[in-house]
Amino acid sequence: MDLDTLCRRLPKAELHLHIEGTFEPELMFAIAARNGLRIPYGSVEEVRAAYEFDDLQSFLDIYYQGASVLLTEQDFHDLAWAYLQRAAADGVGHAEIFFDPQTHTDRGVAFETVLDGLWSALRRAEHELGMSSALILCFLRHLSPEAAMATLEQALPHRDRIVGVGLDSSERGRPPSLFREVFDRARAAGFRAVAHAGEEGPPAYVSEALDLLHVARVDHGVRAIEDEALMQRLVDDGVPLTVCPLSNVKLRVFDTLADHVLGRMLARGVRVTVNSDDPAYFGGYVAENFARTAEALHLGHAELATLAKNSFEASFLPPERIRQLCDEVDRFVAAHRES
Ligand code: ADE
Ligand code: ZN
Repeated sequence: MDLDTLCRRLPKAELHLHIEGTFEPELMFAIAARNGLRIPYGSVEEVRAAYEFDDLQSFLDIYYQGASVLLTEQDFHDLAWAYLQRAAADGVGHAEIFFDPQTHTDRGVAFETVLDGLWSALRRAEHELGMSSALILCFLRHLSPEAAMATLEQALPHRDRIVGVGLDSSERGRPPSLFREVFDRARAAGFRAVAHAGEEGPPAYVSEALDLLHVARVDHGVRAIEDEALMQRLVDDGVPLTVCPLSNVKLRVFDTLADHVLGRMLARGVRVTVNSDDPAYFGGYVAENFARTAEALHLGHAELATLAKNSFEASFLPPERIRQLCDEVDRFVAAHRES
């Protein structure tokens, strides 16, 4: 079996995926047209050509612009359903999906419109694709802690449909400490906690996410490699990192995949996982991230199996389900031994 097929069939969970980052230009044009809105591009090719980024902010500017055509419950359903079908084809048995309600509520879209549309797609994926999934509400860190708290208030009545809270958007100059109170409140209400840290921000932001926000996993976290004491802590405490290799290259965190720290972190014993972040913008869904990373960093079947099992172990699934899924990975890898 070739590497791409193996990486597609390998059972895995996706834990770092922004649903607004799965908005393919074809669907963007279709939704803009039915909502009577214009986007500042003439064609799908023109949209794709605009996806050249210098850093996180240059990407976020285009990403928020794309999301601005989403208005109705059907729009959010179609967006999520398109992703879930692609994920199932990529061997994803379970997905924990980020959504950014403030991107929509700040434009006058009701919180429930977003949530109901996404939720119906998740239920459909369970029935039609046999795939489990969950939603994680991300607070936009370029906005205020007070705005995050108001968003949490909107989420409280829907606790049964949202597994956790996260923190995303512009990282530089927006340390996790700003959001301590809203994370305290969210965890007290029963939400699990995750946060983007150490993508562009310094290793100290990873430590803050652990110490102050008490996150169960760190999104990205790749700059932890610059701090040996922090690396030892990640290993000792088994802290999962949701790493997104193609994203990091597209946003110039690393020059090429061959320069990526994932292989070194894996060898060091850090619980790293592979994810796609915003696949419509970064040139590959999760299986593509696995294959291109394995190729560039010379990862073998043992490393691929570890990455896949890490993805289930780092998920918010019940322990018994995690064991079953990890056994599936072992059986898959045993049946496809390296030649
Ligand atoms: N929102 C969507 N993708 C993101 C990323 N890679 N970092 C921070 N915020 C994001
Ligand atoms: Zn992200």
